[in-house]
Amino acid sequence: MVGDSMHPSTRKIIVLKPALLSPFWRFFGYFWQFHCWPDHLLSCITAILRASSPPFAAMLSQLDSLKTEALTALDTLSDEAALEAFRVDYLGKKGKLTALSGGMREVPADLKKEVGAKLNEVRDAITSGLTVRLEALQAAKDASAVAGIDITLPGRPGAGVGSLHPLTQIRDLAVRTLRRMGFTLADGPEIETEWHCFDALNTPTDHPARNESDTFYMPDGKLLRTHTSSVQVRTMESAKTLPVRIIAPGAAYRRDEIDATHLSVFNQIEALYVDTDVSLADLKGTLEYFFREVFGPTTVVRFRPHFFPFTEPSFEIDVKLEAKGKEARWIEIAGCGMVDPAVFAEISKKRGDNLFDPEKVTGFAFGMGLDRLAMIMHGISDIRHLIENDVRFLQQF
Ligand code: DAH
Repeated sequence: MVGDSMHPSTRKIIVLKPALLSPFWRFFGYFWQFHCWPDHLLSCITAILRASSPPFAAMLSQLDSLKTEALTALDTLSDEAALEAFRVDYLGKKGKLTALSGGMREVPADLKKEVGAKLNEVRDAITSGLTVRLEALQAAKDASAVAGIDITLPGRPGAGVGSLHPLTQIRDLAVRTLRRMGFTLADGPEIETEWHCFDALNTPTDHPARNESDTFYMPDGKLLRTHTSSVQVRTMESAKTLPVRIIAPGAAYRRDEIDATHLSVFNQIEALYVDTDVSLADLKGTLEYFFREVFGPTTVVRFRPHFFPFTEPSFEIDVKLEAKGKEARWIEIAGCGMVDPAVFAEISKKRGDNLFDPEKVTGFAFGMGLDRLAMIMHGISDIRHLIENDVRFLQQF
């Protein structure tokens, strides 16, 4: 191997731009490439070459003076506009530091690292000096904003105590009503697995709800639950005994365009009742009672056959409501049905026991949107009012 037999110093070749070299240095460089100089002498020469490389030396001193100039200027500035002008002047795209850093092109490759570090040091010094000034200015502003306020004075009467959000009110009413009927509260995560949200609920892989355009998926394959029905699954997965009788209010997420009737985050309440003898009559009775509690004792409820993957038979529930001065009309309000045996089978497979044996247990489930319930109850025409926190809207409830 040719390289191995050579003295190490013969392999060090410093390439300098010819235009930057005086005839002396050119000769010196030529001499250097072909003769074996002792190592320590070589590093001495390298140091001399570095220091005398014109763009390198000039840039370092220009950077140093820019730093001193900037930090001195900073001390004299005392308002936000002046500080912003300073920022643009030094750090902006057309600022002094950016202009200087353009000189990097002239610096020989082996010196770039050093000049670059200097450039960063100066930029950091100016940036942090500016931040300190801005923070001091803000602190002074904050102090003067509260100066003269006597925090020991008693509060002004009539400022109002606020009230519960209409959604909170309707949720509390729903929970109160269902708890009276023996349902207990259950909970589950909003970031769910596909199994809990879809597979265990007998929803096939090609169901449109599982599409990326309808559901928010996480990079790890989990998703933001599209309905609170996943809490049914979690409850049955961990139940110790029968009956299971739960309700689960909570948020659900869908990739819907936001408009007067859709939000991508909304609220539902879910119910599940499983035992050895739960019937459709129980489902109807429970829901009729529930809606009469919510909308008044004369409310008429209708069960319309429908399809949900997790219940069989399934229904949509409409209530007949009359808005003031208008003819009564049917309004679709919830989904429900008898738990599909396929759901019990999947739960049993996961649990590895027969507490939810599809041959032995039956159950009903229902779910509804709380936002929709609030809109219907209060005649709210745009669902977005519920999240805008406009006091003029909220004061009405
Ligand atoms: N999960 C359904 C939805 O989000 C609502 C629903 C329908 C829930 C039927 C149920 C049910 O528990 O049995 O549209």
